[in-house]
Amino acid sequence: MRRKMAAGNWKMNGLLADLVQLDRIAATCPAPDADLLICLPASLIHPASQQVRHSAMMIGAQDCHWNAAGAHTGDISAVQLADAGAAAVILGHSERRADHQEDGATVRAKAQAAQASGLIAVICVGETLAERDAGATLDVIGAQLDASVPDSATADSVVIAYEPVWAIGTGRIATTDQIAEVHAFLRARLIDRFSPQTGGAIRLLYGGSVKPDNAAQIFAVPEVDGALVGGASLTADDFCPIVAALE
Ligand code: G3P
Repeated sequence: MRRKMAAGNWKMNGLLADLVQLDRIAATCPAPDADLLICLPASLIHPASQQVRHSAMMIGAQDCHWNAAGAHTGDISAVQLADAGAAAVILGHSERRADHQEDGATVRAKAQAAQASGLIAVICVGETLAERDAGATLDVIGAQLDASVPDSATADSVVIAYEPVWAIGTGRIATTDQIAEVHAFLRARLIDRFSPQTGGAIRLLYGGSVKPDNAAQIFAVPEVDGALVGGASLTADDFCPIVAALE
């Protein structure tokens, strides 16, 4: 039985004043049967983790370096994120793959660093519209998954998020058939590579324009264990109905 997860990705949004939304989420959307994770800009991780320390909500980051420390100006390590109170980190988001030329080997090294610091690595995979139109979706996702997920992955330390690039921030959502096809493929690939126990227990999230009005239909798709939510995770008003749809 996989525990459901509702994860938010604030991306490069949010100031200290916006952390009031975390109190609202903790107070108004209890989710005893699901993990709640909000991944924040690095500047907000420590205050947020202090603020929610009496709730079950987890605070996460959106990237980390593969080294624990050293001469890497502007970067932040998994050790530092854990020290600041993070419990998880998003890795290999398509925006980082595109903006920072991150490839699978880089994402894998970062995931190993996250694991070593006790952080859950939420590893993202997803195809562009051109790749989908060319019929290459499963090839692209399979290659990203194989390259990005470390051999040491466990169900406790790794979560996979399928985020079709063309559905991110566009309001255009993948159909339930498209989500079902990719999630079934990911599940089979993880079971093949690891074992039925480990591959069957790693959680699979869908991300890309998840909103209060479409969450329930997405969560009804087989092998969807929750969502990685961008824009609709910024306020409790939008995020809580998504959390409620998980229960
Ligand atoms: O990581 C979440 C994300 O990329 C989806 O963003 O705004 O389409 O929910 P959004």
